[in-house]
Amino acid sequence: MKILAIESSCDETSAAVVLAGKKSGVKKLSNIVSSQILIHKKTEGVVPEVAARAHISKISRVVQKALKDAKTPLESIDYFAVTNGPGLVSSLLVGTEYTKGLALALNKKVIPTNHMLGHLYSAFVSDPKIKLPSVNLIVSGGHTYLILLTKKNKFKILGSTVDDAAGEAFDKVAKMLGLAYPGGPEISKWAKKAKKKGFEDYAFPRPMLNTKNFDFSFAGLKTAVLYKIRDEKLNLKNPQTKANLACSFQEAVIDVLVKKTIRAAEKYKTKSITLSGGVAANKLLRKKLASASRKIYNKFYVPDFSLCTDNALMIANAAAIKVQGGFKPVKYTKLKVNPQLELK
Ligand code: KG4
Ligand code: ZN
Repeated sequence: MKILAIESSCDETSAAVVLAGKKSGVKKLSNIVSSQILIHKKTEGVVPEVAARAHISKISRVVQKALKDAKTPLESIDYFAVTNGPGLVSSLLVGTEYTKGLALALNKKVIPTNHMLGHLYSAFVSDPKIKLPSVNLIVSGGHTYLILLTKKNKFKILGSTVDDAAGEAFDKVAKMLGLAYPGGPEISKWAKKAKKKGFEDYAFPRPMLNTKNFDFSFAGLKTAVLYKIRDEKLNLKNPQTKANLACSFQEAVIDVLVKKTIRAAEKYKTKSITLSGGVAANKLLRKKLASASRKIYNKFYVPDFSLCTDNALMIANAAAIKVQGGFKPVKYTKLKVNPQLELK
């Protein structure tokens, strides 16, 4: 079956085509991502209305290009997959309404797909044979999940964030430090400078590190950075101070993420550990989780950098896995957007 997937949940307009087997196997035919980062840099964050308008202006061209790269005429697509949540409602509506139009015109069924399911299975795009059970850390701008995958299509959420997501904390701390949007890559860039010379570790707290559950909390850590700057009257014009703050914050986040993931893997005696979501593009997190995984004899998987941040290939892949697991594609009239769609 050929699936055309559309992703527009936040600030990337993306379309991808895959060829998937009835029971297993997903082959990428194309993946086009049009990023809105330059637009949102001006406002230091995503303005929903602006994002939706940008999706509207891009979506047709992105879909055309995905079909062209896949050397596939629109008529030979079997199913249309689309992210129907979670995300920004106005952004989600652009992708889902566009998909409805395609499905209506071509009389084809649709596969509504949870954005986080896309992230969950994204490590499988390049490594379809990941040994299960696996524990999966998903760290994105809006969510932080620790998930146990026992079989493809069978998972259990072990924990999630009780407040800010990991990526959200990166973005907010970056803003405090006067760094550009999106904050994650900026924080890691500045953190590197700290380690090279004069690094003073501010030893920020490791929230919920010692709780018995697998939940996370990052809002307090963000406040700890704020209070440190305020109470010690730190001069953010000094590049070394800025680098030290970025580095100490990043170390604290990574420390909690790695330790809790390893604890979950040990508890559930997993064979593999996967890391995905936008924050998975963080090189230090990749390195530290890879090394900690090896120590407990778990194989470590992380998608290519291009598949960590939002893209339609991960949606096409997750949609294919859903259908291979028995999900029946639905009529376009059943496609409903839910900005708070839960992963289950
Ligand atoms: O998965 P994603 O593209 O969008 C959501 O589904 O939210 O994740 C975006 C998040 C942003 O918060 C961004 O700052 C973060 O991923 N991010 C990073 C890095 N690259 C992107 N965080 C830390 N280090 C990075 N290198
Ligand atoms: Zn995402």
